[in-house]
Amino acid sequence: MKILLTGGAGFMGSNMIHYLLATYQDVEVVNFDDLTYAGNLESLTDIAQDPRYTFVKGNIVDPLAVEEAIAGVDVVINYAAETHVDRSILEPRAFIDTNVYGVYNILEAVRKHKIHRYIQISTDEVFGAVLEGESDEQSKFEPRSPYSASKAAGDHLCAAYAITYGVPVIVTHSCNFYGPYQFPEKLIPLFTMNLLEGKKVPVYGDGQQVREWIFTQDHCRAVDTIMRKGNPGEVYNIGTGYRVPNMEVVKQLLDLTDRGEEAIEYVTDRPGHDRRYAVNSNKLRTELGWEPQVSFEEGLAKTVEWYKNNPDWVNRCRTGEYQEYYQKQYG
Ligand code: TYD
Repeated sequence: MKILLTGGAGFMGSNMIHYLLATYQDVEVVNFDDLTYAGNLESLTDIAQDPRYTFVKGNIVDPLAVEEAIAGVDVVINYAAETHVDRSILEPRAFIDTNVYGVYNILEAVRKHKIHRYIQISTDEVFGAVLEGESDEQSKFEPRSPYSASKAAGDHLCAAYAITYGVPVIVTHSCNFYGPYQFPEKLIPLFTMNLLEGKKVPVYGDGQQVREWIFTQDHCRAVDTIMRKGNPGEVYNIGTGYRVPNMEVVKQLLDLTDRGEEAIEYVTDRPGHDRRYAVNSNKLRTELGWEPQVSFEEGLAKTVEWYKNNPDWVNRCRTGEYQEYYQKQYG
């Protein structure tokens, strides 16, 4: 099976490439990635020489490059996305380009080349803040940030192409990911690095916002299950049910890094900050037989250990662009 995996130099994409090559002998993976700020090919140095792997530099906003890369593949998995909410608040443009227009380009190429399956990786943030209960696959989209609005638009296009043209696309809505190779702008890697380096951690607002967390390995297995057993045109939520306020995550990170509460700094809240996310993942569990295997405590310990052992990888993410963003966001 030949898979075109877009965004393979990013966090989840590179984890999925590792997973696919380790799990299947007869797989071929083409990593299509434009190496924007969050892409780092060093995440893939260990498999770069594997004959089953190729890298193509390209951007999903370029329709010709997408068409060229897609010809002859069996499956497309789209991890290419602008994903960081705070960046979308500062500069939304790239989010519309990549997450809407880029998805349109993939859908068109999948349609034209009659690709067997297209998996669109999306987020539970399209459902907006869920103050009580859970969002299931039928819940209404109520995005509240430029990021989630752009993802929702891409998901709507997928649904429309499935209905109108019969494009065999499957959309996933996942809770928050964490694990090795995550760009140090998201809560867990940013706070881990700050704590390891003796710095403070910027907690937005009261820190009581709730997120549901999944370890990267469990997410890879979920996408693999959906790719093999999911039905075209369907939507699957991916979640663990592990939902905690941010302060609980911070507490566990303080323990794992031997830091005290004086490392916490409460800062101005994110505008429009979604108070709580919670996904119902029963469909994936009962219909396709997937279950998460890694507890949060175990996944977080592995993650902190990885960041402890890979300061060079992190430092190479911290380019001038990163410093500029950090300055704008945290002053
Ligand atoms: P994040 O990792 O940006 O993911 P998302 O906003 O997509 O859920 O943030 C996770 C939570 O952590 C979210 O409630 C915002 C909060 N947060 C902070 O309190 N401080 C920070 O510096 C960051 C990046 C996030």
